[in-house]
Amino acid sequence: MPAQQGPVVLGIETSCDETGVGLVRDGVLLGEALSTSMDEHARYGGVVPEIAARAHVQAIVPCVRAALASAGMAASDIGAVAVTAGPGLATALHVGVSAAKAYATALGVPLYGVHHLAGHLAADLVDGQPLPNPLIALIVSGGHTSLLQVGDLARDPIVHLGDTLDDAAGECFDKVARVLGLSYPGGPAVDRGAAGHDPTALAFPRPLLGRNDAPYTFSFSGLKTAVARWAESHPDSGVASGDVIASFQEAVVDVLTAKVIRACRDRGIADLLIVGGVAANSRLREVAASRCAAAGIRLRVPARRRCTDNGVMIAALGDLLVRAGAPPSPPDLAAMPGAYLERAQLGVPVTLTPTAA
Ligand code: KG4
Ligand code: ZN
Repeated sequence: MPAQQGPVVLGIETSCDETGVGLVRDGVLLGEALSTSMDEHARYGGVVPEIAARAHVQAIVPCVRAALASAGMAASDIGAVAVTAGPGLATALHVGVSAAKAYATALGVPLYGVHHLAGHLAADLVDGQPLPNPLIALIVSGGHTSLLQVGDLARDPIVHLGDTLDDAAGECFDKVARVLGLSYPGGPAVDRGAAGHDPTALAFPRPLLGRNDAPYTFSFSGLKTAVARWAESHPDSGVASGDVIASFQEAVVDVLTAKVIRACRDRGIADLLIVGGVAANSRLREVAASRCAAAGIRLRVPARRRCTDNGVMIAALGDLLVRAGAPPSPPDLAAMPGAYLERAQLGVPVTLTPTAA
């Protein structure tokens, strides 16, 4: 008799411009599909929520079908549904949450609303080992930059050691790319433009680096302004030189890696996870690897394609919740565009410990 298997978890992600679908069972990836509306936003220089939502409406059912086909499965094989309930663009989240409710209701299976950033933390669970516990984690995405201490991802509250005071790291890449005349989306364009160039050519500021009163707090808007000032004072440069791009990227990477390593040291935790779209950055991956090796820290970074938004990470987190025995979310689960990261699951009341009378 084969060992009892858990349910096949369908994961749905629609918080921004990627329609992502994943199918995971017992930590094993079975199928996936991804559709992006990125090109439709390019001429506006940023994601347009209504365009993203319409693209999700068009893509969601074909993506679920494609993921099922890649797994060689039928919809009736799905045993649970997990969906990003927030944070993200309200119009975009509604599409995924509505679709997830429809699948869960039609199939008669439980629904799990999850936090998008917790999904990023689960991004490489399908590629191998469970997450170490405890763990220092850095989430660097287009909308968030958070330095966290994570225990049992499915069960424990997530502790914020520090966040950004202003722009997120990815937002800084995107805005600076625009200032420097690079193509949209900015992060990958900076990554490519910096390759092979001198990161020490210009000394851009390292905001809040080495500040004992804000050891784990980030700030990127001053750096963005510094690059904008450089561009203003060099109006003839057109598309910026590779050295300028590399120097900007180095400032971001330096701050991020120095602060996460300090957090590991201060907290006595030797396991570090870096996730989110910016974790796809080549220089961040390179510097984090060498600094962690020097500091005796075990570094985990998902494969590049699992750093940016996808449905596999949501399915992986849903699978983790199912295996941890988490209660399903209620059928009136709502999209929560501004959800703060406190727990992996959204839409279930936190059980409070009663205080003695
Ligand atoms: O996690 P993600 O796909 O979406 C959000 O949850 O926000 O992150 C998107 C962000 C964008 O700001 C994008 O420019 C950035 O990740 N990004 C990168 C790279 N690839 C994506 N930033 C730097 N280097 C990259 N290679
Ligand atoms: Zn994301």
